[in-house]
Amino acid sequence: MLPSTNLIASTPPMGWNSWNTFGHKVNESVIRETADGLISTGLKDYGYDYIVIDDCWSIKDKRDGNGDLIADPEKFPNGIKALADYIHSKGFKFGIYSDAADKTCSGYPGSYGFEEQDANLWAAWGIDFLKYDYCNAPQEQSVAMERYARMGEALRKTGREFLYSLCEWGNQSPHLWGQKIGGHMWRVSGDVYDSWINIWMNGWYSIGIDVSIDIANELHEYGGPGGWNDLDMLVVGLKGKGQIAGSGMSFVEYQTHMSLWCMACSPLMIGCDVRKLDSDTAFLLMNREMLDVNQDTLGIPAKRVKQIGSCEIWTKPLTDSSVAVSVINRGSRPEEVTVKARDIGMLNTPKLARNLWTQADIADFKIDLTQRVQPHETIMLKIT
Ligand code: GLA
Repeated sequence: MLPSTNLIASTPPMGWNSWNTFGHKVNESVIRETADGLISTGLKDYGYDYIVIDDCWSIKDKRDGNGDLIADPEKFPNGIKALADYIHSKGFKFGIYSDAADKTCSGYPGSYGFEEQDANLWAAWGIDFLKYDYCNAPQEQSVAMERYARMGEALRKTGREFLYSLCEWGNQSPHLWGQKIGGHMWRVSGDVYDSWINIWMNGWYSIGIDVSIDIANELHEYGGPGGWNDLDMLVVGLKGKGQIAGSGMSFVEYQTHMSLWCMACSPLMIGCDVRKLDSDTAFLLMNREMLDVNQDTLGIPAKRVKQIGSCEIWTKPLTDSSVAVSVINRGSRPEEVTVKARDIGMLNTPKLARNLWTQADIADFKIDLTQRVQPHETIMLKIT
């Protein structure tokens, strides 16, 4: 059991994952076109550089004569190695998915008992990232730790550098042990759907963004350079479409979602179809100043410092001694919220407030600053 190195994931990983939009419909052309799309939209230049194939890439109920996993030849006619070469030639890193049991969540072969064999296969294909799920595995902390450690060790033994992403949904508290067993990020909740509130979806109780806010606050003391709380793949841009389509959300709700993920130092794995990126989604995914908050090298997840009715003030200290502040309105009416210097750990001395979403300096103040916040909106400030 070796701790993960700080070289990988020294800041929260960024990229794209196939599940939220494509589910079992993932295939080679989707992945190639996504790589091209991440480049043509500019997303890659903003740091989204992992491309991850989620569940449903292999053949169901079958390994080959050597016991190796088989990529579905209908979905991936040229095999995974050729696809990895393409992804790498475009400057991305490439991720794949498996599960710590005999079957994945969608019923494809898992890697339990085949850890070294599968890790070697992925290393030979040129894989750089593994998302390791926990469906069909015992709900017991010691078992989860042991199964994740086995795969962590198998990845390490290949000699290839893997980013190891644990998808245990937080039931067995991976924030306490994930990094020790070689993990670089660990899911902290069930699947986040494209919805503000929790919903029942595909037989699962799925998490809405409003609930992620509380989970992020509860776990703010965990996660930092080398190992991060993973709030789940991004739902921004889904707009009611795709594998995990919920009811969809309004622009300000997606903005709150993105603000929270940036403040909480969550990995930013895009889930929408970047081949058809609309301007709202491009705006939310490619704001340099917001991404700088997420990627700040101090790597301290934000915490809630004050609740005023349905509104909350959160702070995140940044490397340059400034503070990122979010003002969230979880209620259904517009509110005026006053941020006081002492609430955000600052003295009553002159300060500059910059609005990060609009990238504009908005005020000089000493003692307090009042902001109007729409229902479900987050105002993001940087106070220097
Ligand atoms: C689980 C995971 C999801 C996704 C699916 C695939 O639900 O939490 O992120 O990987 O499995 O089947």
